[in-house]
Amino acid sequence: MIANVLGVEVFRQTIAGNILVGNYCAFSNKGGLVHPHTSIEDLDELSTLLQVPLVAVNRGSEVIAAGLTVNDWIVFYGSNTTATELSVIESVFKLQDGDVGISGDGYRWRKYGQKMGQASEWALLRHHSSEELFGVQICGAYPNTVARIVELIDQECTVDFIDINMGCPIDIVVNKGAGSALLTKPTRMKSILQAASGTIDRPITVKVRTSYLEGKNHIDLLIEDIGKWGANAVTIHGRSRQQRYSKLADWEYIYQCARKAPDALQVLGNGDVFTYLDWNRHKSDCPDLSTCMIARGALIKPWILTEIKEQSYWDISSGERLYILKEYVRFGLDHWGSDAKGI
Ligand SMILES: Cc1cc2nc3c(=O)[nH]c(=O)nc-3n(C[C@H](O)[C@H](O)[C@H](O)COP(=O)(O)O)c2cc1C
Repeated sequence: MIANVLGVEVFRQTIAGNILVGNYCAFSNKGGLVHPHTSIEDLDELSTLLQVPLVAVNRGSEVIAAGLTVNDWIVFYGSNTTATELSVIESVFKLQDGDVGISGDGYRWRKYGQKMGQASEWALLRHHSSEELFGVQICGAYPNTVARIVELIDQECTVDFIDINMGCPIDIVVNKGAGSALLTKPTRMKSILQAASGTIDRPITVKVRTSYLEGKNHIDLLIEDIGKWGANAVTIHGRSRQQRYSKLADWEYIYQCARKAPDALQVLGNGDVFTYLDWNRHKSDCPDLSTCMIARGALIKPWILTEIKEQSYWDISSGERLYILKEYVRFGLDHWGSDAKGI
């Protein structure tokens, strides 16, 4: 009956073993929230089925209830987990062949008049004054589209560097030939990096995993070339695409890559840095590393960055936490302004 009335295909599905899926998931046409115990296989299947990005959610309430927002490319869930800010250029900027211009209403238009990406999408690339060094991350599968968007970002935004994602494991990115799919195509990696770095003077950086398939690490074999192809820095997440988040990041392998890298290529290690002591250990075990990148550690505890700077644990009070949250909200208001939906 549902199929007949709505004219859509209908599937019988459970989310993390729960039959009442409406309580355990929320989807829009741009993204979805699911129960934290949803397996990676289920996430993959759902993502492929629905053709929207889904992320493994690891904190917060188990029941997805009203009041949560799923929109754009970003999925919010609880206070400690958020999701990709990665811009899939063909989708976000609706980029195709043809030149682009800018119209007064903030929309970008192709020369022949078709809308190309909304102002709100471009707003994601806007720099806030509190951000000292600001980069934008994009992903794409083709050198010509990457070069075009790099040029546009350089012209339209205040950015210090542009990072090209060649490590994202999610199907919706990989199936387009972007993200970690590029790990299997060194020649494409080369042409993308050459095209991007040949287009602008600003630094181009790249984010990779150790390999696509488990047990087939090979970024060390490309590390010299990555520098020659025009990247100024590479961040290595010490896991394969196949591995996703299972097992620990392979820091010995990251060190090996850092030691092989040419001087002009900075290497940042990434994976499982949850305390300032983890950060210290990697920096002292491998002085060839420029620094370590932190993702989940900063979602769990944003002040880990202060702890690294000050080299001590911060026994933070509830008042100080609240202050951080208030500042965050204030910056958000400064940056985005208020609107009827947001406040
Ligand atoms: C919620 C979430 C969103 C992420 N989004 C991105 C992203 O947009 N681009 C990217 O390169 N990596 C992204 N990552 C991967 C992290 O940058 C990082 O490589 C990975 O989490 C391992 O580092 P960690 O152990 O410090 O979390 C994301 C990770 C999480 C948990």
